[in-house]
Amino acid sequence: MDDPSLSMAVNALAARVGESLVPAPSGLPEDGPRTLHHGVHVTAWCGSAARIRDERAGLARGASHPLAPRLVAHTETALAFERCLTAAPVDREDALVAAMPTRSFSATASVRAHLESLGGPVNLPRALARSLGRARADRLLARVVPITTGRGPSLGGVHPGWLHASSAGRLVCLSMRHAHAEAWAALDLAAAEVHGSAGLRDVHASAHGDGADAAYTLATLAVLLRESVLGAHVERAATEARILETLAPWLSQGAPSTVAVRIEGPAWLDTARWAGPAVAAAEARRLIRTLDGLAVGGTTLRVHTEPSLRAGRASPAWRPRDERRRELFSRWDAGIAFDDEGLFSATPEALAAQIASGAHGVAIDATCGIGALSIALARRSEVTRVVAIDTSAERLEMARHNAALYGVADRIEFRRGDARALVPALRGDLLVLDPPWGGRDYDRGRVGLGDLPLDIRPLLEAFEGAVVLKLPRSFDVAELGPRFSFEAGLDPRGFIKMLIARRPATR
Ligand SMILES: C[S@@+](CC[C@H](N)C(=O)[O-])C[C@H]1O[C@@H](n2cnc3c(N)ncnc32)[C@H](O)[C@@H]1O
Repeated sequence: MDDPSLSMAVNALAARVGESLVPAPSGLPEDGPRTLHHGVHVTAWCGSAARIRDERAGLARGASHPLAPRLVAHTETALAFERCLTAAPVDREDALVAAMPTRSFSATASVRAHLESLGGPVNLPRALARSLGRARADRLLARVVPITTGRGPSLGGVHPGWLHASSAGRLVCLSMRHAHAEAWAALDLAAAEVHGSAGLRDVHASAHGDGADAAYTLATLAVLLRESVLGAHVERAATEARILETLAPWLSQGAPSTVAVRIEGPAWLDTARWAGPAVAAAEARRLIRTLDGLAVGGTTLRVHTEPSLRAGRASPAWRPRDERRRELFSRWDAGIAFDDEGLFSATPEALAAQIASGAHGVAIDATCGIGALSIALARRSEVTRVVAIDTSAERLEMARHNAALYGVADRIEFRRGDARALVPALRGDLLVLDPPWGGRDYDRGRVGLGDLPLDIRPLLEAFEGAVVLKLPRSFDVAELGPRFSFEAGLDPRGFIKMLIARRPATR
């Protein structure tokens, strides 16, 4: 006790009660009295004058409660009440139960309104949002719950005498000052249970019938949320776990496990792969997060669910870098050569195989980068030869090295130069065009041919064989004309990564 004014307050009080008062380990929350002391016959609290005034008023209001502590003495900044801790806990429970008022009280209100009536100086709805996350808390707070409990004199949840019993580190002062007039019997019992007595829920239920269980859950929640705020230093994790445990039946109740999903999108997009009459709610939320509002092929996707769901929050889907790189090149560990741009624009192996599917004869990869598509083409037995073109000599060298790691370098002819100059002079069965998309912010609302850094129109006009294009997913398909067909390139998690456009040979 370093504060001289507190030490004076305790000494003055000790003089009045004729006992020496020993500081008790309190771990008192800020809202509680600032120090707790015990004598042989009294327990003493010291605090600010305002706090002590408040406590005295509270004790006076609760004076008719069978468990009300008897005030022995007080000064302006301290008060002492009779220690009443000799009874075994079970007796205190019995006394609490016996003290339950018989006047029944019912109310139907939102969880938010109930918690506000029980919150006192603590904002319980905000504490709930801290524990559950805003979206989940908002859903729960909006729920309308009928409760039945008893109303009557209350000590705000915990008899001050319990302070001693719990002072070994589990002390939380539950002065529900503003809840006083509305105090619920469930609150006293729930507090008793939270502080170590089990089974009081049944006692309350048998006394109050229908709605008693909901009242008890809310009262327990109020006690725990208060502890999570005021008793921050005391077993916070355990308190949070109990909040979740208390709410588990309510959180799972009413939340649909499956919903019907319908996706509005372009006709060519196989939206049925995500939609259906019974999609797991978690998956439906993921679809809302990743697809709703996404521009694909010049159309904005819309995800509808029945019953309607909100996207909710997602934890970031982090995956180790090596795992992501092996998705690009399964032989990554063999020593794939790359530079920044080449790696950023490399096509993941599964998607490269999708783009190359159907290729045969001579295939031209007009913008080969570090070689992902050339390798996929060369690995197809139906492809007799690949011509790989790039303006960058370094990237061509990397593509050659990478092709060698896949054992297909000798099936690829590497040519350095501008595709616009080289392609028109070549004859081939398939032209693969994976033009640069214009940096990392390619995913704009709508991308057209004129937005791509390399104008591929002359190449499309000049080439008579089949064509396959790898384009940003937001590319407006209307720009390519009726001979093209489209498909989405998805990553292993079903997320749209790119648009694939195909045109059959014109000759
Ligand atoms: C999107 S990257 C190709 C990625 C590659 N298809 C892959 O999956 O690994 C585009 C490449 O086009 C090349 N490029 C840009 N303009 C070019 C042009 N006019 N002619 C040929 N290549 C060009 C760039 O050097 C770059 O390597």
